[in-house]
Amino acid sequence: MLIKKIGIIGAGTMGTGIAHVAAKNGFLVKVYDEFVGAKEKSLATIEKLSASSVAKGKQEPAEREAMLRRLQYVNSLSELADSDLVIEAIVEVLDIKLALFKQLDEILAKEAIIASNTSSMSITTLAAATSRPEKVAGMHFFNPAQVMKLVEVIRGFHTSDETVQALKDVSDKLGKTSIEVKRDTPGFVVNRLLLPQMREAVKILEEGVASVEDIDTALKLGLNHPMGIFALQDLTGIDICHNVLEYFKTEMGDQYAPPLLMKQMVKAGRLGRKTGYGWYNYSNNN
Ligand code: 3HC
Repeated sequence: MLIKKIGIIGAGTMGTGIAHVAAKNGFLVKVYDEFVGAKEKSLATIEKLSASSVAKGKQEPAEREAMLRRLQYVNSLSELADSDLVIEAIVEVLDIKLALFKQLDEILAKEAIIASNTSSMSITTLAAATSRPEKVAGMHFFNPAQVMKLVEVIRGFHTSDETVQALKDVSDKLGKTSIEVKRDTPGFVVNRLLLPQMREAVKILEEGVASVEDIDTALKLGLNHPMGIFALQDLTGIDICHNVLEYFKTEMGDQYAPPLLMKQMVKAGRLGRKTGYGWYNYSNNN
């Protein structure tokens, strides 16, 4: 199936990043978000990042203009009806996602694919809310989506080979490398590896073994990670890391339970860069 029109639901960090990279690579993109102000903030982010690319000589002004023309922010879900592919990138609350998948199934043409950018949730469960489970799959991008090269294409129980291939083709066109996650398991591949590391880092901190800064330095210089594990939690959102660990705990056992300190950070509203304060303080530089 040839995909030309992509609908994106959720104009947060991930939805914005995916919309940006999709419009930049020639797709006609429509973005919908029900929250007041989300669309304006998302467009402003893309305008700012693309203006900076032009200033750095990495994008021609005309290419930027064409990219912005391919990007449309819409006011209702029904305006996504002509999409060949819809990528859901909303809040990680199962009941909200299920209601959305049911609605999308009613709105979209029967051959359209519905993909979720969920960090960890079951694709099979989401697909069950639709009448087209063979056309539902995971398409998991990494933050910042404009930069990170990987896309995990995840099979739900009923996902067809055709759907997987179509999503791999889209990933190629986005300049990404895709891997196929053959079984629908919590966290897929990357987050199954990453979240236990985030959890362990907080445990090491709680035990007084080393400071936030030193743990991050250890990973950067000892393992060549581009950024420390605490800085990465701040980039991802500590609430997101916490919620994924809660989900892992429910699905796979108590060994994945979020540490107390992480829970307290979430309760205190110290969620990372987006709130100006997480494991590090961003109030002066963001
Ligand atoms: N949004 C968009 N673009 C960004 C960006 C952002 N937040 N941050 C940086 N960039 C772009 C810059 O504009 C720059 O683009 P250019 O090459 O065209 O000029 C390029 O990235 C490099 O940026 P910088 O030189 O400022 O910074 P670095 O070289 O230090 O790279 C980084 C920044 C890409 C964030 C790098 O530190 C990195 O790779 N960190 C690890 C990120 C990571 O692991 N992400 C996965 C998170 S897990 C996840 O998303 C899964 C989820 O389900 C939890």
